[in-house]
Amino acid sequence: MDNYRTQYEKLYEADDYYWGTEPADFLERLINLKRPRPGMKVLDIGCGEGKDAVYMAKRGYTVTAFDLTESGIAKTKRLAEKMGVRIKAYVDDINTFETDERFDIIYSSGTLQYLYEDKIAGFFEKIEKITNPHGLNYFNVFVEKPFIAEAPDWDKEEKIWKTGDLFSRYTDWKIHYINESIFQCSSSEVPHFHCMDSILAEKMIYRK
Ligand SMILES: C[S@@+](CC[C@H](N)C(=O)[O-])C[C@H]1O[C@@H](n2cnc3c(N)ncnc32)[C@H](O)[C@@H]1O
Repeated sequence: MDNYRTQYEKLYEADDYYWGTEPADFLERLINLKRPRPGMKVLDIGCGEGKDAVYMAKRGYTVTAFDLTESGIAKTKRLAEKMGVRIKAYVDDINTFETDERFDIIYSSGTLQYLYEDKIAGFFEKIEKITNPHGLNYFNVFVEKPFIAEAPDWDKEEKIWKTGDLFSRYTDWKIHYINESIFQCSSSEVPHFHCMDSILAEKMIYRK
C-alpha cells in the first residue's frame, strides 16, 4: 500500500485521462464574463490532469495551475504541449500554497474539500487578496445530505461541507451565479451520487 495523500497520484499514472480532456461547462460562464485579453491571468487550484487549465490557455489566458499530484502535473504539462500552449504548472498544496501574483480569474473544481478545517478562513483571505479588482472566482464543493451515501472513492483527507458554507464566504462580493445540484458520478466505476454547491462571484471595489 502506498502512502500517497490522495488516490489520484496513482490514478493519474495511467495513460488515459481519468477526467477526460474535455473542459468543464462552467468555464464558458467565466469566459463570457471576462473575455481573454493579453496578459489576463488565470489560476486553477487542484488542476488534476489539466483539462481546464489547458483549455483556458488555448482560449488566450495566461494560466497557472497546481495540484498535489506529481502525476497530474506531468499529464497537465503533456496535454499543454499536445495542444500547443504554455502554462505554468507545478505541484503544490491548497492548504499551504503561496504566491506573489494577482489573478483575474481563480477557480477550483472538486478540490476545496481537501482544505483542512483550520485552513479554510485563511484560504479565502488569501484568495481575496490575490484576486484583482473585478476579478472572478469560481468554486465548487461537495456538500453533505443525509439521503446521499458517502462516495465509494472518497479520499481520507476529504472533508464534506454543508450547504451554504461556500456561499457564506462571498457575502461582500457580487454574485453572478449560485447553484446546488445533485448528480450521478461514475468515478471509481461504482455509480454514486454527489451534491455540490457552486458559486461564481466578482470582487468589487468597495465604496468607503
Ligand atoms: C476531483 S479531482 C478534480 C481535478 C480537476 N480540478 C478536474 O476537475 O479535473 C480533485 C483534485 O484535487 C487534488 N488534490 C487533492 N488534495 C490536494 C491538495 N491538498 N492540494 C491541491 N490539490 C489537491 C487531487 O490530486 C485531484 O486532482
